[in-house]
Amino acid sequence: MTGIKHDYAETELLYNQFTRPSARKALRELKKEVGESPKIMDAGCGPGSHFELFEKIFPNAKIVAVDSSKPHIEEARQKAEKTGIDIDIVKADLEKNLDLEEDSFDMIWFGDVICPSDISNPVGLINNLKPFLNKDGLISIFYGNWLRQMFMPGYARLEQKINAAYEMMHETRNLNNPWQGPDHPEKAIKWLQETGFKEVSQSIHTSNYSPKIPDHVLDYVEHVFKNDYSDAVDEKGREAGLTEEEISKWEKLSDPESLMYLPEKDDYYCSMSCILTYGKV
Ligand SMILES: C[S@@+](CC[C@H](N)C(=O)[O-])C[C@H]1O[C@@H](n2cnc3c(N)ncnc32)[C@H](O)[C@@H]1O
Repeated sequence: MTGIKHDYAETELLYNQFTRPSARKALRELKKEVGESPKIMDAGCGPGSHFELFEKIFPNAKIVAVDSSKPHIEEARQKAEKTGIDIDIVKADLEKNLDLEEDSFDMIWFGDVICPSDISNPVGLINNLKPFLNKDGLISIFYGNWLRQMFMPGYARLEQKINAAYEMMHETRNLNNPWQGPDHPEKAIKWLQETGFKEVSQSIHTSNYSPKIPDHVLDYVEHVFKNDYSDAVDEKGREAGLTEEEISKWEKLSDPESLMYLPEKDDYYCSMSCILTYGKV
C-alpha cells in the first residue's frame, strides 16, 4: 500500500484534533491546581497546537511558549497572530540555559515532548526547568500514548502486532533509541519522584469516538492506516509476528476501497488514552 504522506504540521493538526478532548480534560484538571490566571510555560510548543485550548481554559493566563525548532516557532508565531492569542514565543533549547525568569511560572506543560526520540535524559531536562517554577509551581507531562491506541475494534491481536511493529519502526527511524524502559513517557511518575516533586498524580484522559464519528476523526484514522500502520506492517510486520494471512486481512480492513474497510462500518469506534502526570515543587 502506498499511502498519502502528510507534512508534519498537517499530521500534527490531525493528531491534536483527535486528542483534543484528552488535552482539554487534562488542562481542566490542572486548572483546579493552578487557578484562573497562572503563568504557564508551554515547553516544546511545536506549531502551537495547544494555544487555542490554553486560551479557552485559561483566558487570563500569561503563556510563554518555547521550542527549539525554527519552522515550528514560525508556525507557532503565525498561529498566535492568526488567532489573536497573546503568547510570548521563544526559540530556545529546553535542555540548555534558558533566558527566562526563574521562580516565576505556576505551571510547565509538556505536550508530547519528553519522548526518547527527542529527549535522551528526561530527568536532566526536568531538573533544568525546575528553577523556573515558583514555590507553588506545578510540572505537567502530557503524553498521547499513541503507541497503544485502539483504532481496530474487533481485531485486538492484529492491532497489537501492528502497534508492536509501529514501535519497532519508530525506534529504528530514531537511531535505535529504545522506546521502552526508564526513558519511556509511561515512566513519568518516576521522573517526577527522582527530581523531587511532591504530590505526584497521574490520570488517564481518553479521546473516545463512537458512532457517528466526526470527519476529522475519520481523516486521522485513515491517515494512521495509510501511513504509520501501513509503513509499520511493511517494514516490521513480519518481525513483529504478523502472518501472511494477517497481513492480507489488514490490507482489506485498511483499504478505503474495500468492503471490509473498518472505519466505514456502522459500529466503528476508536479511542486513545492519553496520560497526564504532574507534581508540585
Ligand atoms: C511532538 S512535538 C509536540 C508539540 C506540541 N507540544 C504538541 O503537543 O503538539 C515535540 C516538540 O518538542 C520540541 N522539542 C524537542 N526537544 C526540544 C528541546 N530540547 N528544546 C526545545 N524544544 C524541543 C520539538 O521541536 C517539537 O516541536
